Amino acid sequence: MTYEAFSRKYRPKSFKEVIGQDFVVKTLKNAVKLGRISHAYIFSGSRGVGKTTIARILAKVLNCKNPVDYEPCNQCENCIEIDKGSFPDMYEIDAASNRGIDDIRTIRDNVNYQPIKGKYKAYIIDEAHMLTKEAFNALLKTLEEPPPRNIFILATTELYKIPDTIKSRCQVFLFKPPTKSQIKTYLLRILENENIPYEEEAVDLLAQELEGGMRDSASLLDQAVTYSEGKLTVKSVEELLGIVPLNYIKKALNYIKNQEIQPFIKLLDEVEDNGYDINIFWKELLSNLQKSLINIVMNQKDEHFSNQDLKTLIYIKNLFNKAYSEARTFVNPKDIYQIYILKLSYIDAIKSIQQLIEGNFEFGKTTPQQIQKESTQIKESTEQKTQSEENQNLQKIITQIIKNEKIIAPLLKEAEIKEEENSIFIKLKDKSQEEILSSHFDILKKYFPNKNINISAPQVKDKKKDKKRDEVVDKVLELFPGSKILTYKEKED
Ligand SMILES: Nc1ncnc2c1ncn2[C@@H]1O[C@H](COP(=O)(O)OP(=O)(O)OP(=O)(O)O)[C@@H](O)[C@H]1O
Ligand SMILES: [Mg+2]
Ligand SMILES: [Zn+2]
Repeated sequence: MTYEAFSRKYRPKSFKEVIGQDFVVKTLKNAVKLGRISHAYIFSGSRGVGKTTIARILAKVLNCKNPVDYEPCNQCENCIEIDKGSFPDMYEIDAASNRGIDDIRTIRDNVNYQPIKGKYKAYIIDEAHMLTKEAFNALLKTLEEPPPRNIFILATTELYKIPDTIKSRCQVFLFKPPTKSQIKTYLLRILENENIPYEEEAVDLLAQELEGGMRDSASLLDQAVTYSEGKLTVKSVEELLGIVPLNYIKKALNYIKNQEIQPFIKLLDEVEDNGYDINIFWKELLSNLQKSLINIVMNQKDEHFSNQDLKTLIYIKNLFNKAYSEARTFVNPKDIYQIYILKLSYIDAIKSIQQLIEGNFEFGKTTPQQIQKESTQIKESTEQKTQSEENQNLQKIITQIIKNEKIIAPLLKEAEIKEEENSIFIKLKDKSQEEILSSHFDILKKYFPNKNINISAPQVKDKKKDKKRDEVVDKVLELFPGSKILTYKEKED
């Protein structure tokens, strides 16, 4: 018996089996329904998101002898042959290995003949961006005068490499990367069908760790199941991916919840002693804190925290983000993490003055030495640059963030952003935006690793601001060097 990889075995055979890509599926089904099939499509998107899969389904439904509800029957001769790759009216061309003009010329001659068996001849050109200039020109001629009953589907991971002349003659679909929950649906489909016992947490972990397409997730599942002899367990996934055991993360979350400083610091040793990378541990912890935050904001049940913890949690997430960006490049990251864990003991002080201060601290600096160190580093790296170069650079980076980071993109689009010396100043529209952006500080830090990042939002003017301050407030300012009072409300007797 030959072994068939999960990803091939579970390639969707009809539109309804496709997970996600709703827009593409809906538009194509409608086109079939209304008989408005375009003669050329471009399917653009990253690897393993369903481009080839949907191209084949489209070829099938157009050639199926008994289509049902604008879906292929998957039983007639034509459907079966298309699935097997032996249908005489379907051509799959891999432009990566066949960049030559000859294939395209053959196509050009071929389009004038009637289909042999089906209603349409379908040409799927994979990695279309790899075609040579000559091949594109030959293709263009065909697309300019499309003979009837031929359909072209160009699949590409790099749309920008397709000439505009070609693009403008095709209907372009942008395939989206699968979300974590879509990957989970896909993995569960495989597990259930294969009758493989699994721990649900292991599936979550796989889905969470994978940012790539469905194909990669299926092959990792394959490996994990083989590794643990026919089951999918948290342990096997952790070992396979080299990630820090969930157990440690759970412990850490509990220590945070109960403010158990000492065991938390000991846990760092344990993680390290067992051979795990402490930065990876911290990163996982951050992503779990983020998950809890989202759960709370969305009023969903969270395993570790409750609604009352929201403000504290935002505070801790910010604090720990900062720890991560500092520690990552430091020789002894554990030292930094220890310091930040110690800072958890200030939380009570914060809670007690929550009514006085609208919890927005700037976790700018930790110790004067660190400020010193950071600013020398930054000076060294920017000394050569002129002001205008810097501005152009800033614009580029912002454009990149807006493109890549969907979560914070809308905030940045509306923000006023400028760079001065070693600092980036981001002025947002309002306080709520500020809270959200601060909780994604790690993302910003990734793009500005050597800058001080200042996030602010306009203040509601407070007349009492200059009044003599409460002692508690002074204490807090002392505990958090670099923090500012944003609003101040006097105690009511
Ligand atoms: N949207 C989806 N729904 C369900 N399964 C999917 C989806 N996308 C991909 N898959 C799974 O991943 C496998 C690979 O998908 P496909 O060949 O369509 O990817 P692709 O986008 O053409 O990638 P590439 O750019 O590498 O050619 C499929 O066999 C299928 O098992
Ligand atoms: Mg493909
Ligand atoms: Zn059929």
